[in-house]
Amino acid sequence: MKKVTLFKGDGIGPEICASVKKVIEASQADIEFEEFNVGEAEYNAHGALIPQEAFDSIEKNHVILKAPITTPIGKGFRSCNVLLREKYDLYANIRPAKNLPNVKSPFDHVDMVIFRENTEDLYVGKEEKIDEDTVYATKIITRKCSERIIRAAFDYALENKRKKVSCIHKANILKMSDGLFLSVFQEISKEYPNIEADAYIVDNACMQMVMHPEKFDVMVMPNLYGDILSDLASGLIGGLGFLPSANIGKEIAMFEAVHGSAPDIAGQNKANPTALLLSACMMLDYLDEHQKAEKIREAIYKVLQEGKVRTQDCGGNATTSEYTDAILMAMS
Ligand code: NAI
Repeated sequence: MKKVTLFKGDGIGPEICASVKKVIEASQADIEFEEFNVGEAEYNAHGALIPQEAFDSIEKNHVILKAPITTPIGKGFRSCNVLLREKYDLYANIRPAKNLPNVKSPFDHVDMVIFRENTEDLYVGKEEKIDEDTVYATKIITRKCSERIIRAAFDYALENKRKKVSCIHKANILKMSDGLFLSVFQEISKEYPNIEADAYIVDNACMQMVMHPEKFDVMVMPNLYGDILSDLASGLIGGLGFLPSANIGKEIAMFEAVHGSAPDIAGQNKANPTALLLSACMMLDYLDEHQKAEKIREAIYKVLQEGKVRTQDCGGNATTSEYTDAILMAMS
């Protein structure tokens, strides 16, 4: 039995976690969860975002399934996600965006996988107040971190029979920092002669993603662009409720939905659990439980294809529990 550390999160977190636990149990995957409360609610109750027992559990199990956590805007504690990514050096944030059966979207032919560098760029949190009206923020790009994410993107392309890797950057303006990322990309691409390599300036990439999403296959980029473009990618396939992600390091991996804690619909049994369910499938693949992952994906696709039970974010009126029950039924 493989043990996985489960963070229930804030807002809609506990509701979508309940859905995932039921579906994983029904898949008969060889998984046992160790559950922890983490995030804003835990911080307000006990003064720590992540209790020490939860860190101990991660360091024992090496795999985390994490529901979204609320981060205060413009004040308060630093993001729990950034903290976990930094502490465990979860450098590769992988976000696959693919059209789903019968999920309404103005865009067809979307099948892109975003590799977001996860440990540096503006997310190092180095902000300095120069005077009352001036703040500096530091953007860090290193050869080491650029190399490992770019190599991860090319290796993924090779293993998954993908044709192309695109580098997204702003090296026309940020000539030294993004310039370094782009030149590392150009160097590494030469090691993969069978994979096409091209590059887009980030603003052009945004336009091309909505005009010609079929142009993109695997994409690799620094942290900030990856954060923004993956939400854009979720819009291409029907919304945030559908986009899963993996944060992979050398020893530890964390799987989570791309969306946040959605406080506007929390506690109302309205949330779409698909993104966390698909993240759990990525986790099962990582744990070599491929058949169980495929069984869950097939059940999700079947329910979406039939279109009778849909959550509100994609035009239906089903609750989280009704949608979960439909998936369980499709698996039986
Ligand atoms: P959000 O992703 O929570 O919500 C944006 C919009 O999408 C809302 O209208 C929400 O109702 C909807 N939405 C999101 N997920 C949904 C789902 N599964 N089903 C149905 N509708 C869904 O983004 P927002 O409002 O900017 O952030 C809220 C909080 O979440 C903030 O504190 C933010 O820092 C945090 N956050 C946490 C993340 C994480 O833990 N990985 C990632 C992004 C944001």
